[in-house]
Amino acid sequence: MKESEVAVAPKQQQQSVVCSYNEWDPLEEIIVGRIDGAVVPNLTREFKTFAKPEYWDFFRKYGGKPYPEDLLLKGMKALDNLQMVLEDQGVIVKRPDVIDFTKTYRTMHFESSGFNSGNARDFLLVIGDEIIESPMAYRCRYFEYEAYRSLIKDYFKKGARWTAGPKCSMSDELYDQTFPVDDIEESKKLILSGRYITTEYEPCFDGADFTRFGRDILVSRSLVTNNFGIEWMRRHLGPEYRIHVTRFYDDSPMHMDTTWVPIGEGRVLSCPERPCLDSNILDMFKTAGWEIHKPPPGLCPPQIPLHLTSRWLSMNIIMLDQNRVVVEASEEPTIKFLKNLGLKTVPVDIKGFFPFGGGLHCATCDIRRKGTLRSYFGN
Ligand code: ARG
Repeated sequence: MKESEVAVAPKQQQQSVVCSYNEWDPLEEIIVGRIDGAVVPNLTREFKTFAKPEYWDFFRKYGGKPYPEDLLLKGMKALDNLQMVLEDQGVIVKRPDVIDFTKTYRTMHFESSGFNSGNARDFLLVIGDEIIESPMAYRCRYFEYEAYRSLIKDYFKKGARWTAGPKCSMSDELYDQTFPVDDIEESKKLILSGRYITTEYEPCFDGADFTRFGRDILVSRSLVTNNFGIEWMRRHLGPEYRIHVTRFYDDSPMHMDTTWVPIGEGRVLSCPERPCLDSNILDMFKTAGWEIHKPPPGLCPPQIPLHLTSRWLSMNIIMLDQNRVVVEASEEPTIKFLKNLGLKTVPVDIKGFFPFGGGLHCATCDIRRKGTLRSYFGN
């Protein structure tokens, strides 16, 4: 690159193209992930706590290999559908690069093959005009950032701030070597009591464990986000933001976007199976006059294997603004429920993507919403 080409945004663009403070202001631009070339993760010790036990055999059989073609094609089609629907609604959509996930890599601490770059929300966290790359905690996601770098460099040139969270070593010390991964019931019990496969050896977090409500940001200690990572984020964001650590009843907590999902100023969806356990958080919402709504369970048909997630992907939605919501087309009870809340639903056939670890919200990352930094819970 010539020096003259380097990265100073023209004045009018220094109003960064990246700007998003919450989950519901009018959406203008978004990233939709990609699963081209997706590779099935190996069923390593720590991965057993991430994958659903009923699908361990799938991971044993295909680990390190490309996903079976029929699953892959359906998943790719689903993300293309999403892109089309969003564009149809007037949203600018960007996609990450295709990278070769079959390549095995070796760091000083471990060896692995890759996964996919379908869940943009897990890796990228946009807070205001800043793009934060998450360190993550799956070894198979170590190099996922490569898929996003062309986009991020471009957003940087257009005025965004760009930060990479401290890269994890993902050495054995990050995973509790005494965790009883093969004893499923015992694992669940431990998780409910606040013990996790990831240790506090180094900071780790996924973007999707944070939910943005303007100046207030909720986060959960999860299988992939530790307290060290949460503290890193708190200090990084500084006094302008308030980070609230929140616990939900969940025996495999990972990513808040199927658990506690805002649908506009003053309204949040709460997964009925995973209630919020913090009375201070519930008080904070109630005192500020927020309504807490419980959506019906998701239907996800049995032919869609949920290798990594629950059926609650039905509530993994994208707010286009406070009136319009993008939702999986076959989730009729959820659609009816959202309509009853006065929302206009925009259906999209995305369920083919579900086996790859997420739904609509997971597959995307807000780049720009029209709005400013506000406080929704008093000062
Ligand atoms: N742990 C959630 C569930 O099983 C899935 C969340 C997926 N979210 C994501 N951003 N990948 O319901």
